[in-house]
Amino acid sequence: MRALVRPARRLLGTLTVPGDKSISHRAAILGGLATGLTEVQGFLEGEDCLGTLRALAAMGVEAVRKGPGHYLIQGVGPDGLQEPETVLDCGNSGTTARLLLGILAGQPFTAVLTGDDSLRRRPMERVVRPLTRMGATVVGRAGGRRLPLAITGARPLRGLTHPLEVASAQVKSALLLAGLRAAGPVTVVEPAPSRDHTERMLRAFGVPLEVAPGRVTLTPGAWPAGRLVQVPGDLSSAAFFLVAGLLLPEGSVTVKGVGVNPTRTGLLEVLEAMGAGLAVGPTGGDGEPLADLTARTAALRGVEVGGPLIPRLIDEVPILAVAATAAQGVTEIRDAGELRVKESDRLGALAGELARLGAAVEERPDGLRIRGGRRLRGATVSSRGDHRIAMALIVAGLLAEGRTVVEGVECIETSYPEFIATLGRLVGEGCLEVAL
Ligand code: S3P
Repeated sequence: MRALVRPARRLLGTLTVPGDKSISHRAAILGGLATGLTEVQGFLEGEDCLGTLRALAAMGVEAVRKGPGHYLIQGVGPDGLQEPETVLDCGNSGTTARLLLGILAGQPFTAVLTGDDSLRRRPMERVVRPLTRMGATVVGRAGGRRLPLAITGARPLRGLTHPLEVASAQVKSALLLAGLRAAGPVTVVEPAPSRDHTERMLRAFGVPLEVAPGRVTLTPGAWPAGRLVQVPGDLSSAAFFLVAGLLLPEGSVTVKGVGVNPTRTGLLEVLEAMGAGLAVGPTGGDGEPLADLTARTAALRGVEVGGPLIPRLIDEVPILAVAATAAQGVTEIRDAGELRVKESDRLGALAGELARLGAAVEERPDGLRIRGGRRLRGATVSSRGDHRIAMALIVAGLLAEGRTVVEGVECIETSYPEFIATLGRLVGEGCLEVAL
Protein backbone atom coordinates (compact mmCIF):
# COMPACT_ATOMS: atom_id res chain seq x y z
CA MET A 1 0.00 0.00 0.00
CA ARG A 2 1.17 3.52 -0.84
CA ALA A 3 0.27 6.92 0.60
CA LEU A 4 -0.09 9.71 -1.95
CA VAL A 5 0.73 12.99 -0.25
CA ARG A 6 0.31 16.53 -1.52
CA PRO A 7 1.45 19.76 0.15
CA ALA A 8 -0.88 20.91 2.91
CA ARG A 9 -1.36 24.46 4.18
CA ARG A 10 -3.10 23.79 7.42
CA LEU A 11 -3.50 21.35 10.26
CA LEU A 12 -6.33 22.46 12.45
CA GLY A 13 -8.26 20.64 15.11
CA THR A 14 -8.38 18.61 18.27
CA LEU A 15 -7.88 14.87 18.47
CA THR A 16 -7.12 11.98 20.73
CA VAL A 17 -4.56 9.36 19.75
CA PRO A 18 -4.76 5.61 20.47
CA GLY A 19 -3.45 4.18 23.73
CA ASP A 20 0.23 4.04 24.57
CA LYS A 21 1.89 1.02 22.98
CA SER A 22 4.37 0.33 25.79
CA ILE A 23 1.71 0.61 28.50
CA SER A 24 -0.75 -1.56 26.54
CA HIS A 25 1.81 -4.40 26.25
CA ARG A 26 2.49 -4.21 29.98
CA ALA A 27 -1.23 -4.13 30.87
CA ALA A 28 -1.77 -7.30 28.81
CA ILE A 29 1.22 -9.11 30.34
CA LEU A 30 0.74 -8.09 33.96
CA GLY A 31 -3.03 -8.56 33.65
CA GLY A 32 -2.46 -12.05 32.23
CA LEU A 33 -0.05 -13.06 35.01
CA ALA A 34 -1.95 -11.44 37.88
CA THR A 35 -4.34 -13.02 40.30
CA GLY A 36 -7.88 -11.82 39.55
CA LEU A 37 -9.36 -9.64 36.88
CA THR A 38 -7.70 -6.72 35.08
CA GLU A 39 -9.85 -4.22 33.23
CA VAL A 40 -8.00 -2.24 30.56
CA GLN A 41 -9.40 0.92 29.00
CA GLY A 42 -7.67 2.60 26.09
CA PHE A 43 -5.74 -0.54 25.06
CA LEU A 44 -3.94 0.03 21.75
CA GLU A 45 -5.55 -2.24 19.15
CA GLY A 46 -2.54 -2.16 16.83
CA GLU A 47 -0.90 -5.33 15.53
CA ASP A 48 1.95 -5.24 18.08
CA CYS A 49 -0.24 -5.24 21.17
CA LEU A 50 -2.83 -7.59 19.66
CA GLY A 51 0.11 -9.94 19.05
CA THR A 52 0.93 -9.83 22.77
CA LEU A 53 -2.68 -10.72 23.60
CA ARG A 54 -2.59 -13.61 21.08
CA ALA A 55 0.66 -14.98 22.55
CA LEU A 56 -0.83 -14.81 26.05
CA ALA A 57 -4.01 -16.52 24.78
CA ALA A 58 -1.82 -19.36 23.44
CA MET A 59 -0.64 -19.82 27.05
CA GLY A 60 -4.16 -19.87 28.50
CA VAL A 61 -4.88 -16.19 29.22
CA GLU A 62 -8.45 -15.15 28.38
CA ALA A 63 -9.03 -11.56 27.31
CA VAL A 64 -12.58 -10.53 26.44
CA ARG A 65 -13.10 -7.46 24.26
CA LYS A 66 -15.93 -5.39 25.69
CA GLY A 67 -15.62 -2.50 23.20
CA PRO A 68 -12.96 -0.46 21.36
CA GLY A 69 -9.79 -0.63 23.47
CA HIS A 70 -11.74 -2.08 26.40
CA TYR A 71 -10.66 -5.53 27.59
CA LEU A 72 -11.27 -7.74 30.59
CA ILE A 73 -8.27 -9.97 31.21
CA GLN A 74 -8.66 -12.94 33.50
CA GLY A 75 -5.27 -13.35 35.17
CA VAL A 76 -4.00 -16.93 35.52
CA GLY A 77 -2.05 -16.33 38.75
CA PRO A 78 1.46 -17.47 39.71
CA ASP A 79 1.21 -21.06 38.41
CA GLY A 80 -1.40 -20.68 35.69
CA LEU A 81 0.46 -20.18 32.38
CA GLN A 82 0.32 -23.23 30.13
CA GLU A 83 2.87 -24.50 27.64
CA PRO A 84 1.89 -23.14 24.21
CA GLU A 85 1.09 -25.83 21.64
CA THR A 86 2.62 -23.91 18.79
CA VAL A 87 5.19 -21.23 18.04
CA LEU A 88 4.50 -17.77 19.52
CA ASP A 89 4.70 -15.28 16.67
CA CYS A 90 5.72 -11.85 17.98
CA GLY A 91 5.27 -10.25 14.55
CA ASN A 92 7.14 -6.94 14.32
CA SER A 93 7.20 -6.32 18.06
CA GLY A 94 10.46 -6.26 20.00
CA THR A 95 8.57 -5.48 23.20
CA THR A 96 6.43 -8.62 22.82
CA ALA A 97 9.46 -10.84 22.23
CA ARG A 98 11.67 -9.45 24.98
CA LEU A 99 9.04 -9.09 27.70
CA LEU A 100 7.66 -12.58 26.97
CA LEU A 101 11.18 -14.03 27.23
CA GLY A 102 11.30 -12.44 30.69
CA ILE A 103 8.16 -14.21 31.87
CA LEU A 104 8.96 -17.48 30.09
CA ALA A 105 12.33 -17.69 31.88
CA GLY A 106 10.46 -18.64 35.06
CA GLN A 107 7.92 -21.10 33.59
CA PRO A 108 8.25 -24.88 33.97
CA PHE A 109 7.88 -25.50 30.21
CA THR A 110 9.34 -24.78 26.79
CA ALA A 111 8.10 -22.14 24.35
CA VAL A 112 9.35 -21.18 20.90
CA LEU A 113 9.25 -17.54 19.80
CA THR A 114 9.62 -16.09 16.34
CA GLY A 115 8.84 -12.86 14.52
CA ASP A 116 8.70 -11.20 11.11
CA ASP A 117 11.74 -10.51 8.89
CA SER A 118 12.58 -7.34 10.83
CA LEU A 119 12.24 -8.86 14.31
CA ARG A 120 14.29 -11.93 13.34
CA ARG A 121 17.19 -9.57 12.55
CA ARG A 122 17.05 -7.76 15.91
CA PRO A 123 19.44 -8.56 18.79
CA MET A 124 18.09 -10.84 21.49
CA GLU A 125 21.34 -11.61 23.34
CA ARG A 126 20.75 -8.55 25.50
CA VAL A 127 17.90 -10.45 27.20
CA VAL A 128 19.06 -14.02 26.55
CA ARG A 129 22.41 -13.55 28.32
CA PRO A 130 21.09 -12.32 31.68
CA LEU A 131 18.08 -14.69 31.61
CA THR A 132 20.48 -17.58 31.05
CA ARG A 133 22.55 -16.44 34.02
CA MET A 134 19.33 -16.50 36.05
CA GLY A 135 18.84 -20.16 35.10
CA ALA A 136 16.74 -20.25 31.90
CA THR A 137 17.88 -22.39 28.95
CA VAL A 138 17.71 -20.74 25.55
CA VAL A 139 18.65 -22.21 22.21
CA GLY A 140 18.16 -20.65 18.84
CA ARG A 141 19.53 -19.11 15.73
CA ALA A 142 22.94 -17.43 15.71
CA GLY A 143 23.92 -19.16 18.97
CA GLY A 144 20.75 -18.00 20.71
CA ARG A 145 21.10 -14.38 19.66
CA ARG A 146 18.28 -14.17 17.09
CA LEU A 147 14.69 -15.40 16.80
CA PRO A 148 13.45 -18.10 16.42
CA LEU A 149 14.44 -19.01 19.96
CA ALA A 150 13.28 -21.83 22.24
CA ILE A 151 13.27 -21.04 25.94
CA THR A 152 12.87 -23.52 28.78
CA GLY A 153 12.27 -21.89 32.11
CA ALA A 154 13.61 -22.79 35.54
CA ARG A 155 12.13 -22.49 39.02
CA PRO A 156 13.24 -20.71 40.98
CA LEU A 157 15.43 -18.44 38.94
CA ARG A 158 18.57 -17.00 40.50
CA GLY A 159 18.68 -13.36 41.57
CA LEU A 160 20.99 -11.10 39.59
CA THR A 161 22.54 -7.66 39.38
CA HIS A 162 22.79 -6.71 35.74
CA PRO A 163 24.40 -3.56 34.35
CA LEU A 164 22.88 -2.63 30.97
CA GLU A 165 25.32 -1.55 28.26
CA VAL A 166 22.66 0.60 26.58
CA ALA A 167 19.59 2.04 28.32
CA SER A 168 16.74 -0.28 27.35
CA ALA A 169 13.29 -0.46 28.87
CA GLN A 170 12.66 -3.76 27.12
CA VAL A 171 15.66 -5.45 28.72
CA LYS A 172 15.03 -3.85 32.12
CA SER A 173 11.39 -4.99 31.97
CA ALA A 174 12.25 -8.56 30.92
CA LEU A 175 14.56 -8.91 33.91
CA LEU A 176 12.11 -7.38 36.39
CA LEU A 177 9.36 -9.71 35.14
CA ALA A 178 11.71 -12.68 35.45
CA GLY A 179 12.48 -11.41 38.97
CA LEU A 180 8.89 -12.18 40.02
CA ARG A 181 9.96 -15.86 39.94
CA ALA A 182 13.50 -15.49 41.32
CA ALA A 183 14.88 -16.75 44.62
CA GLY A 184 16.68 -13.47 45.32
CA PRO A 185 16.60 -9.82 44.32
CA VAL A 186 17.01 -8.72 40.71
CA THR A 187 18.74 -5.37 40.23
CA VAL A 188 19.02 -3.63 36.87
CA VAL A 189 21.58 -0.83 36.57
CA GLU A 190 21.04 1.62 33.70
CA PRO A 191 23.50 4.06 32.11
CA ALA A 192 20.62 6.53 31.59
CA PRO A 193 16.93 6.42 32.48
CA SER A 194 14.70 4.52 30.03
CA ARG A 195 10.90 4.51 30.18
CA ASP A 196 9.68 3.31 33.58
CA HIS A 197 6.18 2.03 32.73
CA THR A 198 6.95 -1.48 34.02
CA GLU A 199 8.07 -0.14 37.38
CA ARG A 200 4.97 2.05 37.68
CA MET A 201 2.62 -0.74 36.69
CA LEU A 202 4.24 -3.35 38.93
CA ARG A 203 3.74 -1.00 41.87
CA ALA A 204 0.16 -0.29 40.85
CA PHE A 205 -0.40 -4.09 40.81
CA GLY A 206 0.98 -4.29 44.36
CA VAL A 207 4.57 -5.41 43.69
CA PRO A 208 7.09 -3.28 45.61
CA LEU A 209 10.29 -2.10 43.94
CA GLU A 210 13.26 -0.13 45.18
CA VAL A 211 14.16 2.65 42.78
CA ALA A 212 17.38 4.64 43.22
CA PRO A 213 19.09 6.86 40.63
CA GLY A 214 20.36 4.57 37.88
CA ARG A 215 19.08 1.32 39.41
CA VAL A 216 15.92 -0.58 40.19
CA THR A 217 15.56 -3.68 42.38
CA LEU A 218 12.71 -6.17 42.58
CA THR A 219 12.84 -8.37 45.65
CA PRO A 220 10.60 -11.37 44.96
CA GLY A 221 7.74 -12.18 47.29
CA ALA A 222 4.68 -10.30 46.06
CA TRP A 223 2.61 -11.40 43.05
CA PRO A 224 0.72 -8.86 40.89
CA ALA A 225 -2.97 -8.43 41.70
CA GLY A 226 -5.40 -7.52 38.89
CA ARG A 227 -6.83 -3.99 38.73
CA LEU A 228 -8.13 -1.24 36.45
CA VAL A 229 -5.58 0.17 33.97
CA GLN A 230 -6.41 3.34 32.06
CA VAL A 231 -3.93 3.63 29.21
CA PRO A 232 -3.04 7.23 28.27
CA GLY A 233 -2.75 8.39 24.66
CA ASP A 234 0.60 7.53 23.10
CA LEU A 235 3.00 10.51 23.01
CA SER A 236 4.93 8.68 20.27
CA SER A 237 1.78 8.82 18.09
CA ALA A 238 0.86 12.38 19.14
CA ALA A 239 4.37 13.49 18.08
CA PHE A 240 3.50 13.29 14.35
CA PHE A 241 0.57 15.69 14.76
CA LEU A 242 2.49 18.07 17.02
CA VAL A 243 5.38 18.38 14.56
CA ALA A 244 3.01 18.76 11.58
CA GLY A 245 1.15 21.49 13.52
CA LEU A 246 4.43 23.33 14.16
CA LEU A 247 5.68 23.12 10.59
CA LEU A 248 2.64 23.73 8.37
CA PRO A 249 1.90 27.40 7.57
CA GLU A 250 -1.44 27.39 9.44
CA GLY A 251 -1.09 24.91 12.25
CA SER A 252 -3.03 24.67 15.48
CA VAL A 253 -3.53 21.20 16.83
CA THR A 254 -4.40 19.89 20.28
CA VAL A 255 -3.92 16.27 21.26
CA LYS A 256 -5.90 15.44 24.38
CA GLY A 257 -5.11 12.97 27.12
CA VAL A 258 -1.51 12.18 26.15
CA GLY A 259 0.84 10.31 28.49
CA VAL A 260 3.60 12.68 29.62
CA ASN A 261 5.69 10.37 31.79
CA PRO A 262 9.00 12.28 32.12
CA THR A 263 10.94 9.27 30.78
CA ARG A 264 9.11 9.84 27.46
CA THR A 265 8.98 13.61 27.00
CA GLY A 266 12.43 14.28 25.50
CA LEU A 267 10.91 15.36 22.17
CA LEU A 268 8.81 18.06 23.83
CA GLU A 269 11.93 19.52 25.46
CA VAL A 270 13.86 19.43 22.18
CA LEU A 271 11.03 21.09 20.24
CA GLU A 272 10.90 23.85 22.89
CA ALA A 273 14.66 24.34 22.53
CA MET A 274 14.12 24.60 18.74
CA GLY A 275 11.71 27.50 19.30
CA ALA A 276 8.30 25.81 19.52
CA GLY A 277 5.85 27.25 22.01
CA LEU A 278 4.04 24.07 23.00
CA ALA A 279 1.14 24.51 25.37
CA VAL A 280 0.75 21.83 28.00
CA GLY A 281 -2.85 21.83 29.23
CA PRO A 282 -4.30 20.51 32.46
CA THR A 283 -2.49 17.48 33.73
CA GLY A 284 -3.82 14.50 35.63
CA GLY A 285 -3.62 10.73 35.57
CA ASP A 286 -3.28 7.93 38.06
CA GLY A 287 0.14 6.30 38.08
CA GLU A 288 0.96 7.65 34.62
CA PRO A 289 0.74 11.46 34.14
CA LEU A 290 -1.51 12.83 31.37
CA ALA A 291 -1.83 16.20 29.64
CA ASP A 292 -3.40 17.95 26.66
CA LEU A 293 -0.71 19.18 24.24
CA THR A 294 -1.12 22.02 21.73
CA ALA A 295 1.26 22.96 18.90
CA ARG A 296 0.92 26.03 16.70
CA THR A 297 2.95 27.12 13.69
CA ALA A 298 6.44 28.24 14.73
CA ALA A 299 9.80 28.97 13.13
CA LEU A 300 12.27 26.37 14.39
CA ARG A 301 16.07 26.47 14.66
CA GLY A 302 18.54 23.59 14.69
CA VAL A 303 19.73 22.02 17.96
CA GLU A 304 22.13 19.42 19.31
CA VAL A 305 20.58 16.31 20.79
CA GLY A 306 22.48 13.52 22.54
CA GLY A 307 23.38 11.84 25.85
CA PRO A 308 20.63 10.91 28.30
CA LEU A 309 18.01 12.69 26.19
CA ILE A 310 18.22 9.95 23.57
CA PRO A 311 16.40 7.17 25.50
CA ARG A 312 13.74 9.77 26.41
CA LEU A 313 12.92 10.37 22.72
CA ILE A 314 14.19 7.15 21.15
CA ASP A 315 11.02 6.48 19.11
CA GLU A 316 10.60 10.14 18.11
CA VAL A 317 13.87 10.52 16.19
CA PRO A 318 12.18 9.91 12.80
CA ILE A 319 9.75 12.81 13.26
CA LEU A 320 12.45 14.94 14.93
CA ALA A 321 14.56 14.46 11.79
CA VAL A 322 11.66 15.78 9.70
CA ALA A 323 11.39 18.82 12.00
CA ALA A 324 15.16 19.33 11.56
CA THR A 325 14.80 19.54 7.77
CA ALA A 326 12.52 22.56 8.26
CA ALA A 327 14.52 24.23 11.05
CA GLN A 328 17.01 27.00 10.26
CA GLY A 329 20.59 25.83 10.73
CA VAL A 330 22.09 22.49 11.71
CA THR A 331 20.60 19.78 13.91
CA GLU A 332 23.02 17.15 15.24
CA ILE A 333 21.65 13.94 16.69
CA ARG A 334 24.33 11.91 18.52
CA ASP A 335 24.60 8.84 20.79
CA ALA A 336 21.69 7.24 18.93
CA GLY A 337 23.37 4.10 17.51
CA GLU A 338 20.52 2.08 19.10
CA LEU A 339 18.31 3.31 16.25
CA ARG A 340 20.12 0.93 13.92
CA VAL A 341 18.47 -2.05 15.65
CA LYS A 342 14.87 -0.83 15.79
CA GLU A 343 12.10 -1.94 13.39
CA SER A 344 14.51 -0.81 10.65
CA ASP A 345 17.98 0.73 10.67
CA ARG A 346 16.37 4.09 11.37
CA LEU A 347 19.53 6.14 10.85
CA GLY A 348 20.10 4.58 7.44
CA ALA A 349 16.41 4.84 6.55
CA LEU A 350 16.12 8.51 7.53
CA ALA A 351 19.35 9.52 5.82
CA GLY A 352 18.40 7.68 2.62
CA GLU A 353 14.73 8.61 2.37
CA LEU A 354 15.00 12.25 3.51
CA ALA A 355 17.83 12.74 0.98
CA ARG A 356 15.42 11.56 -1.75
CA LEU A 357 13.13 14.39 -0.67
CA GLY A 358 16.02 16.83 -1.13
CA ALA A 359 17.08 17.20 2.51
CA ALA A 360 20.74 17.85 3.37
CA VAL A 361 21.36 14.86 5.69
CA GLU A 362 24.65 13.24 6.66
CA GLU A 363 24.55 9.82 8.26
CA ARG A 364 26.94 9.26 11.19
CA PRO A 365 27.64 5.93 12.92
CA ASP A 366 25.60 7.05 15.92
CA GLY A 367 23.39 9.79 14.54
CA LEU A 368 22.47 12.29 11.86
CA ARG A 369 23.57 15.79 10.89
CA ILE A 370 20.80 17.70 9.15
CA ARG A 371 21.12 21.15 7.63
CA GLY A 372 17.57 22.49 7.52
CA GLY A 373 15.71 25.42 6.12
CA ARG A 374 15.41 24.29 2.49
CA ARG A 375 11.95 23.19 1.36
CA LEU A 376 11.65 19.45 0.66
CA ARG A 377 10.76 18.25 -2.87
CA GLY A 378 8.17 15.53 -3.42
CA ALA A 379 9.53 12.11 -4.49
CA THR A 380 8.84 8.40 -4.12
CA VAL A 381 10.18 7.13 -0.80
CA SER A 382 9.97 3.87 1.14
CA SER A 383 8.85 3.15 4.69
CA ARG A 384 11.39 0.28 4.75
CA GLY A 385 8.65 -1.65 6.54
CA ASP A 386 8.95 0.58 9.63
CA HIS A 387 5.79 2.23 10.98
CA ARG A 388 7.51 5.28 12.44
CA ILE A 389 9.51 5.92 9.26
CA ALA A 390 6.25 5.64 7.27
CA MET A 391 4.42 8.18 9.46
CA ALA A 392 7.39 10.59 9.53
CA LEU A 393 7.67 10.47 5.71
CA ILE A 394 3.96 11.18 5.33
CA VAL A 395 4.39 14.33 7.45
CA ALA A 396 7.46 15.22 5.36
CA GLY A 397 5.30 14.83 2.23
CA LEU A 398 2.78 17.36 3.57
CA LEU A 399 5.64 19.90 3.82
CA ALA A 400 7.25 19.09 0.49
CA GLU A 401 6.52 20.80 -2.78
CA GLY A 402 4.86 18.57 -5.40
CA ARG A 403 3.66 15.01 -4.86
CA THR A 404 5.24 12.50 -2.49
CA VAL A 405 4.54 8.78 -2.65
CA VAL A 406 5.32 6.79 0.50
CA GLU A 407 5.54 3.11 -0.37
CA GLY A 408 4.81 0.33 2.12
CA VAL A 409 2.51 2.12 4.55
CA GLU A 410 0.68 -1.04 5.72
CA CYS A 411 3.26 -1.32 8.53
CA ILE A 412 1.50 1.62 10.25
CA GLU A 413 -1.00 -1.05 11.45
CA THR A 414 1.51 -2.07 14.12
CA SER A 415 1.06 1.06 16.22
CA TYR A 416 -1.59 3.39 14.77
CA PRO A 417 -4.12 1.81 12.38
CA GLU A 418 -6.19 5.03 12.02
CA PHE A 419 -3.20 7.34 11.42
CA ILE A 420 -3.76 8.13 7.74
CA ALA A 421 -7.52 8.63 8.12
CA THR A 422 -7.06 10.92 11.14
CA LEU A 423 -4.28 13.01 9.61
CA GLY A 424 -6.14 13.19 6.27
CA ARG A 425 -9.21 14.59 8.03
CA LEU A 426 -7.19 17.29 9.82
CA VAL A 427 -5.21 18.51 6.79
CA GLY A 428 -8.29 18.61 4.54
CA GLU A 429 -9.40 17.30 1.16
CA GLY A 430 -6.98 15.78 -1.28
CA CYS A 431 -3.72 16.10 0.68
CA LEU A 432 -3.49 12.47 1.75
CA GLU A 433 -4.83 9.35 0.01
CA VAL A 434 -4.06 5.66 0.05
CA ALA A 435 -3.57 3.54 -3.09
CA LEU A 436 -2.88 -0.13 -3.46
C1 S3P B 1 9.88 0.04 24.44
C2 S3P B 1 11.13 0.46 24.71
C3 S3P B 1 12.00 1.14 23.73
C4 S3P B 1 11.23 1.59 22.50
C5 S3P B 1 10.22 0.59 22.04
C6 S3P B 1 9.24 0.24 23.14
C7 S3P B 1 9.12 -0.62 25.52
O1 S3P B 1 13.01 0.26 23.37
O2 S3P B 1 12.09 1.91 21.46
O3 S3P B 1 9.49 1.09 20.93
O4 S3P B 1 7.88 -0.77 25.41
O5 S3P B 1 9.74 -1.01 26.52
P1 S3P B 1 14.30 0.05 24.34
O6 S3P B 1 14.26 -1.33 24.84
O7 S3P B 1 15.45 0.35 23.44
O8 S3P B 1 14.18 1.01 25.49
